[in-house]
Amino acid sequence: MIRNNLSTMNDSMAGDNAPNDSNIVWHQSSVNRNAIAHKRGHRSAILWFTGLSGSGKSTLANAVNFSLFELGISTYVLDGDNIRHGLCKDLGFSDTDRTENIRRIGELSKLFVDAGVIVLTAFVSPFRVDRNKARDLVDKGDFIEIHCAADLRTCEKRDTKGLYAKARLGKIKDFTGISSPYEEPEAPELKIDTGIMNLEDCVKVVICKLVDLKIIPDIRNSN
Ligand code: ADX
Repeated sequence: MIRNNLSTMNDSMAGDNAPNDSNIVWHQSSVNRNAIAHKRGHRSAILWFTGLSGSGKSTLANAVNFSLFELGISTYVLDGDNIRHGLCKDLGFSDTDRTENIRRIGELSKLFVDAGVIVLTAFVSPFRVDRNKARDLVDKGDFIEIHCAADLRTCEKRDTKGLYAKARLGKIKDFTGISSPYEEPEAPELKIDTGIMNLEDCVKVVICKLVDLKIIPDIRNSN
């Protein structure tokens, strides 16, 4: 049993991520992801929320997180603004820095998946190629891309942090949607119009998707 666990872990974690230094050797873990899923009663996955600043990514990710928490599911939210206070505080908003930001978050999210946790990431993540690289780090079916599709007009009108106004005045450079591009996902697992739908309905859509994908059990009809 334990031997079986070890070999599965080795396959899923080491993957194609070969280190640059050949003296670094992968250490196998004694606990396997499938065993954790069995014990906890749910699978792990990455819920990757992407969209313009002000599109509601953090709000939706946190609301979904609360619902999952209430269901007893192991979760964690990685939020762009919060992560930039620590792990990514050395990064700015140039294309190169954003790519590095998303690379780190992809790798971090992969660790959460391995730990049996549903990780919810809320990052603008404007570049398709960077999001797809994060997707490719985990097994097929483990990466659920959720496009928070409130359009620029709506986000700018909301301007909850006052950043669009500053960007229009040229006080913030490389601002997504104004002076830096946002590449919409081509085939996200979910596209939610967070400019129109209310939060409660958005949460329901995400929870239903997780049930449909058999990531979490269907508790809707059990009493
Ligand atoms: S990402 O592009 O690298 O994915 P991330 O999600 O970490 O961005 O951070 C985006 C948040 O930083 C926005 O919600 C906004 O509050 C703030 N921010 C500050 N400057 C910028 C900028 N130039 N472009 C976009 N967001 C910015």
